[in-house]
Amino acid sequence: MKFIVKENYEEVCKEAFKIMKEVVDKGNSTLGLATGSTPIGLYNLLVEDHKTNHTSYKNIKTFNLDEYVGIAKSHYESYDSFMKRNLFSHIDINMDNVNLPRGYAEDLEQECKRYNELLENNTVDIQLLGIGANGHIGFNEPGTPFDSVTYITNLTEKTIKDNSRFFDSISEVPTKAITMGIKNILQAKKILLLATGKNKAEAIKRLHDNVITEDLPASALHMHKDVIVIVDKDAYSLV
Ligand code: GLP
Repeated sequence: MKFIVKENYEEVCKEAFKIMKEVVDKGNSTLGLATGSTPIGLYNLLVEDHKTNHTSYKNIKTFNLDEYVGIAKSHYESYDSFMKRNLFSHIDINMDNVNLPRGYAEDLEQECKRYNELLENNTVDIQLLGIGANGHIGFNEPGTPFDSVTYITNLTEKTIKDNSRFFDSISEVPTKAITMGIKNILQAKKILLLATGKNKAEAIKRLHDNVITEDLPASALHMHKDVIVIVDKDAYSLV
């Protein structure tokens, strides 16, 4: 695991952009994408690059990490809406090549199976990740087995509280989600984790400590041979 420490959020996004761009430039890559506030700056840079340099996404495939259960696909805070708003609507991607778990599916077990099969049949070239303040990746909360594959997860109180800033009230925050499992995430060829701000400092310190434990889902990444973690000074402040 390689740590890159940058001055601030903007610099973190620029560094991440360089790495993502190399993969996108191959033309027919498969990207593993993430939501949350952290990747927004990177998505803005990808959109800007598409507009300025006409970088094409026509043959790019994408798989998102997770999706809330219990809100409509059209809800402003669904990850489907988030991805369209922040990336897909601004690039020339073929929406048939875009994949997200369907948290609104009637049969959620079947949906987990469907998504997992897709992941088994496609190799993700680069998986983008944020990290929860409690060390979660995707929506794999502390205690998740490292051999988990796409499943329905119960969000912890901490995650519900952290994500309540996006909703009108905490009671509106979904309590469940469909997420890629840790095993799915580790199958990507390359993993790029971004973290900024003091709120992530504790999780980044624990990740840097190099102790592999299910209490810190992100620590599973130590078992992967190509992981780059880009952080700002605040997120790195407890290391
Ligand atoms: C959410 C997402 C994660 C994300 C995390 C951190 O719960 N499921 O994929 O990494 O929160 O979000 P943020 O980047 O907003 O801090």
